[in-house]
Amino acid sequence: MATHICPWWLGYLLASPLRSLIQDPVKILEPHVRSGMRVLELGPGMGFFTLELARQVGLNGQVIAVEIQPRMLKGLQRRAAKGRLLNRIELRQGRPDSMAVQDLAATVDFILAFAVVHELPSPERFFTEAASVLKPGGRLLLAEPAGHVSSAHFEEELRIATRTGLSLLERPVIRRSHAALFAKL
Ligand SMILES: C[S@@+](CC[C@H](N)C(=O)[O-])C[C@H]1O[C@@H](n2cnc3c(N)ncnc32)[C@H](O)[C@@H]1O
Repeated sequence: MATHICPWWLGYLLASPLRSLIQDPVKILEPHVRSGMRVLELGPGMGFFTLELARQVGLNGQVIAVEIQPRMLKGLQRRAAKGRLLNRIELRQGRPDSMAVQDLAATVDFILAFAVVHELPSPERFFTEAASVLKPGGRLLLAEPAGHVSSAHFEEELRIATRTGLSLLERPVIRRSHAALFAKL
């Protein structure tokens, strides 16, 4: 699978509030996130979805954001501090081939992987780790940019995910994206 990584400077563009006109993070996340949840986000960039996740999990919830590029993490940290949400967000530097989240085994309620899985060297490894950190009944929302990722490629990602023990629940409609919601049984 592809290993091209989004350049760090695109992080500013991806986190622009104008993007909400096409992909509203409130509407995308609200059906899946509840107050008090522990949420894991892979590849947050500068935090377009992370800040909204932090708002939705509330004071007693937690967002763990695993990002590979230090400059993206810096941007996310700055934006979270400005929004007074940093205390609900744990920033983690990931590795290309692993989220390194063994400490979270079976404790996560919801995982967001938005526009990132096609950048991973091993989607299989990601889905395996995702299944291992989700609680029984926990959910994973996968979305990929329809412009970069073909329908065939996305279908292959879905096949890989189901092989790792995640069950496909539905195909939410998200503009300019392929999307799928999984559950850990
Ligand atoms: C296209 S951007 C999407 C950012 C964000 N999810 C959004 O939708 O605005 C992909 C992000 O995934 C990150 N990324 C790529 N490979 C990664 C890996 N192995 N572990 C963690 N993050 C990764 C990139 O650095 C980049 O920030």
